[in-house]
Amino acid sequence: MRISQRHVPRFLPIQGLATWRVPGGAVSAPAMNDPSTIRRLYGRRQGHKLRGGQQTLVDELLPTIEVPRTGALGAASLFGDDRPLALEIGFGAGEHLAAQAALYPECGFIGCEPFLNGVVGALAHIRERGLTNVRLYMGDALDVLERLPEASLERAWLLHPDPWPKARHAKRRFMNDGPIALLAAKLKPGGRFRFGTDHPVYCRWAMMAMQRATAFEWLAETAEDFLVRPPDWPETRYEAKARRLGHEVWYFQYLRRKAC
Ligand SMILES: C[S@@+](CC[C@H](N)C(=O)[O-])C[C@H]1O[C@@H](n2cnc3c(N)ncnc32)[C@H](O)[C@@H]1O
Repeated sequence: MRISQRHVPRFLPIQGLATWRVPGGAVSAPAMNDPSTIRRLYGRRQGHKLRGGQQTLVDELLPTIEVPRTGALGAASLFGDDRPLALEIGFGAGEHLAAQAALYPECGFIGCEPFLNGVVGALAHIRERGLTNVRLYMGDALDVLERLPEASLERAWLLHPDPWPKARHAKRRFMNDGPIALLAAKLKPGGRFRFGTDHPVYCRWAMMAMQRATAFEWLAETAEDFLVRPPDWPETRYEAKARRLGHEVWYFQYLRRKAC
């Protein structure tokens, strides 16, 4: 059989290992195609046309709090001091990001979301709540993660990521070895990563990926720990929709181990 480019990821691990240094050792992303190697965003970039007030938010507020598109990132460059940093990947309409930022005003929050209408939602929350500790990146969270220093994040969230339920699309799922290794490298030892989903296929896939990631310890002792949303975990729009549809929702909390 002739091996075409289409077959390569399935049969031949020919790409080199991408390695991120982490405190206590190196974490290697396996040579497979996943979001950290394919570097392509799937999904919508824009929905309905923006109304006047929404366009004003994009034109006036966004430029003042936008994460630069190139160069190294850090608390000092983004917030002017060395405050603790937190990152939300795919914040949707921004309700969780804004709620966390309001809960922890002493921390700096970076939100990443490629969907323009979602960014507008976050901008509206930021303006309504008068938040000054949020920076937004309209694009791929991997672009931001790569530019952050190692061991710089206290917290990270990935809530209801696009499930890509077909097996042939599994490489598009954010919860894959490459992005998880990158996240491990950028979280501080002792830092926390929260992941939530209502999708059974994604849930199983993500649990297996996190089990392979020795840098993380799953902080669940009883079933309640992953079946009940913790009080400081504000509900997202997707979670509310999942509940309306009668879906079960699973809440995962991981600790970035001190040594791995
Ligand atoms: C199903 S929605 C969930 C939104 C939100 N977290 C919630 O729970 O309501 C998934 C979001 O992830 C965003 N997304 C997908 N890939 C991303 C990436 N590589 N970086 C940042 N955001 C991403 C999508 O644009 C979409 O808004």
